[in-house]
Amino acid sequence: MKKKLFSFLAASLISLTSCNASNVHHEISEYLVGTIPYTNNFRILQLTDVHIGDKDDQDIHYKFMQNTINHANADMIIVTGDLFTYASKTTITRFFDFMDSQGKPWTVTWGNHDEQIYASIDWMTGVLNNYGSHCLFKDIQDDDVFGNANFAIDLMDGTDVFERLIIMDSNRYHYGFDYNGYDYFHQDQIDWYKEMVNYKKGANPIKSLMFYHIPLPEVNDAWEYALNNPGAKEYGERNENPCPPKYNSGFFDVIKAEQSTTAMFFGHDHINDFRVTYEGVTFSYGIKATNRIYHSEEMLGGQVIVLKNDHTLDYEPLLFKYSEVI
Ligand SMILES: [Fe+2]
Repeated sequence: MKKKLFSFLAASLISLTSCNASNVHHEISEYLVGTIPYTNNFRILQLTDVHIGDKDDQDIHYKFMQNTINHANADMIIVTGDLFTYASKTTITRFFDFMDSQGKPWTVTWGNHDEQIYASIDWMTGVLNNYGSHCLFKDIQDDDVFGNANFAIDLMDGTDVFERLIIMDSNRYHYGFDYNGYDYFHQDQIDWYKEMVNYKKGANPIKSLMFYHIPLPEVNDAWEYALNNPGAKEYGERNENPCPPKYNSGFFDVIKAEQSTTAMFFGHDHINDFRVTYEGVTFSYGIKATNRIYHSEEMLGGQVIVLKNDHTLDYEPLLFKYSEVI
């Protein structure tokens, strides 16, 4: 990401108003927002880094995204953060209405820029809780888990959980004596993850996919692994240095230990779209959904993730140019 950070004072004020102020413990079952019947070759469209704002010609961007959605033929849509940049409540709800009008399950998580709105994140999550006819989203605002989007959706094979989709908030900015920069997954979120992947599991771990915005620090190790092992890179390019948080809170070690999550999907670095499987877990950038903010004309559209009935994944990158769509 190449946006300048907020000033310390401004960000501190924002963080005081946007972080969860309460700490009521909720049962893990309350974070399961809903279920979707699994069908073979289940298609998830990942959109990311929309960055839509009040000053845009929004019709153009909606036309572009509609083209991507039409080509995806997806069973559900997940937006992995940075939906907005300087967006009013009207702009925010227009995006939610657009998503809901697609007539299929959809959800979002937040990126670091999603606090740059003319409203609070708590207002936005309050709107999205129980929104529309197809939205699956839940932010328990008084809970003891950091962030504003930690929940899960189960893909069901009859009465059995086939795959758990874990949506987490990689948060926004951290300001402290240790460093100023992108925030990280906090320990209470990591504890929450451990509880979630083990909830209702049988003899074997529940298989899960994760969706969040800011890549884990190990994204750099994954790329290094790809460079040193011909054929390890499964797809895509690295056109900018990945920008994970400077602090490693140890989440990847937990993810590996739990043996549940097989692939993680994120955005944040607009001109990277590579995919590498590293230490048993797939790291996958999405493909930027609009040409707002910095971008590559060759790397716009979305990514379809195809979940097969043996739990393996296929991928279909959808790449379009504004000049051809608009
Ligand atoms: Fe972004």
